[in-house]
Amino acid sequence: MSGLLELRGLGISFGGLRAVDDLNMSVEEGQIVALIGPNGAGKTTVFNMITGVYKPTDGQVLWQGRDITGASPHRVAALGIRRTFQKIRLFPQMSVFENVRAGCHLQARQHWWQGLVGTRAQRREEAALAERTHAVLRRLGLHKVADERAVSLSYGVQRRVELARTLVAEPKLVILDEPAAGQNEAESAELNDTIFAIRDSGVTVLLVEHDMNVVMNVTDHIVVINFGRKIAEGSAEAVRTDPAVVEAYLGRDDEAEDAA
Ligand SMILES: Nc1ncnc2c1ncn2[C@@H]1O[C@H](COP(=O)(O)OP(=O)(O)OP(=O)(O)O)[C@@H](O)[C@H]1O
Ligand SMILES: [Mg+2]
Repeated sequence: MSGLLELRGLGISFGGLRAVDDLNMSVEEGQIVALIGPNGAGKTTVFNMITGVYKPTDGQVLWQGRDITGASPHRVAALGIRRTFQKIRLFPQMSVFENVRAGCHLQARQHWWQGLVGTRAQRREEAALAERTHAVLRRLGLHKVADERAVSLSYGVQRRVELARTLVAEPKLVILDEPAAGQNEAESAELNDTIFAIRDSGVTVLLVEHDMNVVMNVTDHIVVINFGRKIAEGSAEAVRTDPAVVEAYLGRDDEAEDAA
């Protein structure tokens, strides 16, 4: 069986550091899949290899069965794969609307010079993209802050703006790097509903998340990595009680302190 996205023997080295090694995993269409693991396990690096930020040293990235290993970020986006970043990347001085609208840029069908002369087709397209942007803002409860500058918003709300920017492009797969980071408890609970709603709208979701309230409650499938290698995978229930996973997490000082 081949998934929507499949990683085969994926690996990358930075100098002497083997950040990801022989990673095999598959994301089926319509699933919500989580990639989890302790800090520094290699999760963001995996996302960077899928989205063309890093070129893998070994292995393959398959998209709908096609090899896209090493494709540029622009090409990956054009295939319908959109992502958020662990460190927020918004245009701070632009409004929420403008930031989200920017996510449509690959979709514009008209040529730039048609914008200069202001053709009717160009105006029609602009109106359609603006309407689509407003619809996504409403869906994510961001319509009230549409005209606010991104920089003026709380960190948690800025994360939602990033999420909106991925969705406005009508992707097939969204890749979310710690969407719950900086969210308070109520916001993180809301995020669960948002992720379900994204999936129900036909978008497959792959996420990295430390917030176990999100990971355990929304995912169909979890892959656990530690030191760049897969140590377990399965349902939330199976992974939660897996001895290798428990050890990977409890082996960390801060987690051990939390448990004490
Ligand atoms: N460009 C790079 N150059 C050198 N080392 C890197 C680079 N990118 C990542 N690494 C290293 O690869 C390892 C995995 O990092 P990565 O950011 O993927 O971890 P992570 O699982 O996302 O951690 P966190 O939960 O803290 O976000 C780390 O040791 C990191 O220092
Ligand atoms: Mg990371």
